[in-house]
Amino acid sequence: MLLVRDLNLHIGGLKILNDLSFDVQDGSITGLIGPNGAGKSSFYNVLFNLFPASGGSIKLDGIELIGKTPDQISHLGIARTFQDSKLLPQITVLENMLLSSKYLNPVNLRRVFFGGGILSEEFENEKKKARVLLKKVGLEDKEHSLAKNLSYGQSKLIETLRLFMYESKLVLMDEPFSGLFPEMIKVIKGLIRELVASGRTLMFVEHDMKLIAEICDHVIVLDAGSKIAEGTFEHVKTKPEVIEAYLGD
Ligand SMILES: Nc1ncnc2c1ncn2[C@@H]1O[C@H](COP(=O)(O)OP(=O)(O)OP(=O)(O)O)[C@@H](O)[C@H]1O
Ligand SMILES: [Mg+2]
Repeated sequence: MLLVRDLNLHIGGLKILNDLSFDVQDGSITGLIGPNGAGKSSFYNVLFNLFPASGGSIKLDGIELIGKTPDQISHLGIARTFQDSKLLPQITVLENMLLSSKYLNPVNLRRVFFGGGILSEEFENEKKKARVLLKKVGLEDKEHSLAKNLSYGQSKLIETLRLFMYESKLVLMDEPFSGLFPEMIKVIKGLIRELVASGRTLMFVEHDMKLIAEICDHVIVLDAGSKIAEGTFEHVKTKPEVIEAYLGD
């Protein structure tokens, strides 16, 4: 379980997150919503220590994340996607998938990029796993394409698919559906359900309230860095402070 307590983030005198406290239950899909600039992406950045917290605590299964390096945090079993694509444009789709493998080490990395030598058996299995995943979403013919040649939707899809390459307990997604056509939304929705079915806990940021209502078990609403409501979507959508935060936007 993820426990957030009295979390604060101040940058240059600005209060980006204020005394944020909430829990994320194991196996749930929790939506993090709120108007633009509410602090949703900043919360992810604090969790991964890309922005150092100004105070408070974030614990995953009793382990304090504050003060750990992004690398240590990811090794505790936390994966994330970013609001903007973080695929490396100049390497292939398959190589981008393999970058999320837990078996990635300097030797394998060199061999993946420059050839030569024999990949470890685990890493060969990871390659097979990546190929199966690409096939599952109909992108098997893109294996050798450079990531920069993917369409916007295909890039978003690969970002979600990469989450299956990493054995995480907690997955944080930042607007995985934004700007996608309905068919692609359907595919990514299916992948999100599979991530949860495989034992992961999921948090995601989304602006489309229909998707939030459909997918989330629990919703946390932020406005100007503070939590203004939480509960089921049916519960939070009727709260005057939530309506005002959105209308005011
Ligand atoms: N590195 C930074 N330095 C200073 N201020 C920042 C920084 N990053 C974000 N902010 C500010 O923090 C606030 C929250 O931004 P954040 O990106 O977390 O919002 P968000 O809820 O993800 O919004 P959106 O829905 O538009 O993605 C905004 O006022 C933003 O300008
Ligand atoms: Mg954001």
